Amino acid sequence: MDETRTQVAIIGAGPAGMLLSHLLAAEGVDSVVVETRSEEYVASRIRAGILEQSTVDLLRGSGLAERLEDEGDRHRGIYLQWPEERHHLDFEKLTGRSVWVYGQTEVQKDLVAARKADDQAVFYEIDDTTLDDVETDRPSVTFTDADGAPHRVVADVVAGCDGTFGPSRAAVPEGERSTWEKVYPYSWLGVLADVAPSTDELIYAWHPDGFALHSMRSETVSRLYLQVPNDTPVEEWSDDRIWESLATRLGHGQDGWTLTPGPITEKSVLPMRSFVQTPMRHGRLFLAGDAAHIVPPTGAKGLNLAVSDVGLLAPALVALLQTGDSALADAYSDTALRRVWRCTHFSWWMTTMLHQSGDPFDRQLQLSQLRWVTGSDAGATGLAENYAGLPLGY
Ligand code: FAD
Ligand code: DHB
Repeated sequence: MDETRTQVAIIGAGPAGMLLSHLLAAEGVDSVVVETRSEEYVASRIRAGILEQSTVDLLRGSGLAERLEDEGDRHRGIYLQWPEERHHLDFEKLTGRSVWVYGQTEVQKDLVAARKADDQAVFYEIDDTTLDDVETDRPSVTFTDADGAPHRVVADVVAGCDGTFGPSRAAVPEGERSTWEKVYPYSWLGVLADVAPSTDELIYAWHPDGFALHSMRSETVSRLYLQVPNDTPVEEWSDDRIWESLATRLGHGQDGWTLTPGPITEKSVLPMRSFVQTPMRHGRLFLAGDAAHIVPPTGAKGLNLAVSDVGLLAPALVALLQTGDSALADAYSDTALRRVWRCTHFSWWMTTMLHQSGDPFDRQLQLSQLRWVTGSDAGATGLAENYAGLPLGY
């Protein structure tokens, strides 16, 4: 079997894995990345679109923000609305922090370009990923490479950055891991449309028919979401039905605001759940990103949380591997989980405040909460602080 020796074996070439490899390389720590999908597939998955302040700060600090500075769109805040009312929350005024519209596809392209420029070893299109000896100081990852040959990467540390469905999470023995999960009784129908956004900043809309969100990817591409029942077949939603529902829920015609429809280029249904597995470390295996936790998308925390995990993990591994100082590595799980639970709560809170559950009592509470969040500086600041992102070390 072919064998490669490295300091950190990284499973998963998504944003968590590639950013970790980049941050480690900047400090002279060597890594090998392994990934089941192709480079093109990983780079073209339509996912997150909003970067919070600490994500942008980290990308800037590691030389990854050149295109983001040019092409990203900085937003001061968001709109929150319900029928007949739309309110702007100005995060910059409330907290001095802002958010950027810059798609995960673009972040991924920037990461891949930076790793290629550095000759990073990435094995794409692998199969049969297995983790071994993670409780020793010589853990390894074995797999079948793209040519069908078996391969082993022997490392000092394994980083499990393999997302929701990867094997790393289950490599923590059952008796030593705890999991928390909440499945929501609704999903999002997400569409990408070749039309200029009808709004300057994102609109989160509460509506009796269900939640709607108007987001964007650029000056010419809009990203929109509708609350739909779980297991909704995407074929039930024609383009016309989508635009009609968006117009109703987003308030077309309200105070002269109009929603401009356009050609829909992508359409999919996303289930929603909260999930956390603890601890985020077992021996020489460290988990980061969706491998350890999943949030419902309302509030745009998934990608940002993956970045903040890695922002904490990289210096911990550098200290461990270069000087033998294990203090940050020993603290990693607890430090990361503090922020994970904060974002898990925020995502749950935004989700349950804005989606229809079918319960009339919930509706009244939701409207009361929305009035408070938009009408009181204290309420607005709490939302703004969480949405624009708490500092990395929170
Ligand atoms: P991933 O991006 O999932 O990367 C993990 C990688 O590991 C993948 O490339 C996978 O192929 C690879 N892998 C899996 N198994 C193996 C294996 N056995 N061996 C090797 N490699 C493996 N977040 C938001 O904030 N806003 C959004 O609007 C939003 N929309 C989303 C829509 C969808 C459909 C999904 C799935 C997620 C969305 N998210 C969103 C969440 C966000 O995209 C994730 O939080 C983010 O991608 C996490 O990055 P990651 O690197 O941890 O995981
Ligand atoms: C997007 C997704 C979100 O979950 C969100 O809260 C804001 C924006 C997006 O895909 O653009």
